[in-house]
Amino acid sequence: MNLTNQYPSLKGKVVLISGGASGIGANLVDAFCRQGATVAFMDILDDAAEWLVGHIGALNGVDLPHYYKCDMVDIPALQRTIAQIQQDLGPINVLVNNAANDERHDFRDVTVDYWDERMAVNLRHHFFASQAVYADMQKLGGGSIINLGSMSWYATQGGMPAYTSAKAAIEGLTRGLARDMGPDNIRVNTLVPGWVMTKRQLQTCVDDAARRTIREAQCLKSMVMPEDIAAMALFLASDDSKMCTSQHFIVDGGWV
Ligand SMILES: NC(=O)c1ccc[n+]([C@@H]2O[C@H](COP(=O)([O-])OP(=O)(O)OC[C@H]3O[C@@H](n4cnc5c(N)ncnc54)[C@H](O)[C@@H]3O)[C@@H](O)[C@H]2O)c1
Repeated sequence: MNLTNQYPSLKGKVVLISGGASGIGANLVDAFCRQGATVAFMDILDDAAEWLVGHIGALNGVDLPHYYKCDMVDIPALQRTIAQIQQDLGPINVLVNNAANDERHDFRDVTVDYWDERMAVNLRHHFFASQAVYADMQKLGGGSIINLGSMSWYATQGGMPAYTSAKAAIEGLTRGLARDMGPDNIRVNTLVPGWVMTKRQLQTCVDDAARRTIREAQCLKSMVMPEDIAAMALFLASDDSKMCTSQHFIVDGGWV
């Protein structure tokens, strides 16, 4: 990780990240730990979570993150897990709603059950996690909720209409909650990644043709890396962004 900024306001804050065991989420866990935050993350990938905790444990002077196994589509389990985290670590200052699944699907094959399942993994838990941390943030006098969106639907990407619908809806959720929670000084923003070179993306999608597409579409010719997303998340979580809410912040290298 090459991030250099330190945000004093993040030190000691309790930060909860969903889908933190791998990909962008794992980078977020790493980045917040390096800020001196108390980090909890939820996921279903035990092995990846264990590896991540070990990796962070090997860094000098950085506290370990706390892994909680939780399937984000099971809302009662999610509510129980967040209550447990609050009991274990104290009130939550920052929530990063990151867990998602971008499985490709042909619109001709989508059933009602499949549609509902996509909404459950890509949209519904964002709302219920935000609802579950609200009382903490209200009592603390403020907080920051960061919802991970996607530039896929800005780019009119096909092949996964349920995912792109959910990701578009996240921006509506952000703006609605920003209005409702603003009087309590709780900020809600969407962080919109471009095409981010996670290990999974590199292994499954990024061939020579994809690299050409990226070079043509992005104004900037470097690849967007997970730490570029983490850099924006740190800013949005910190007090330095104290007047930013109800917005979307795009980190895509200028994709047009
Ligand atoms: N990587 C990209 O290029 C890209 C582009 C645009 C948006 N995004 C968004 O950024 C976020 C992270 O993307 P990523 O590429 O790291 O995703 P990913 O699929 O690689 O990782 C998602 C993480 O969420 C976890 N997760 C998925 N379903 C879960 C469930 N039901 N319960 C608990 N955990 C679950 C996974 O186990 C995994 O650790 C997502 O919201 C994604 O939509 C990513």
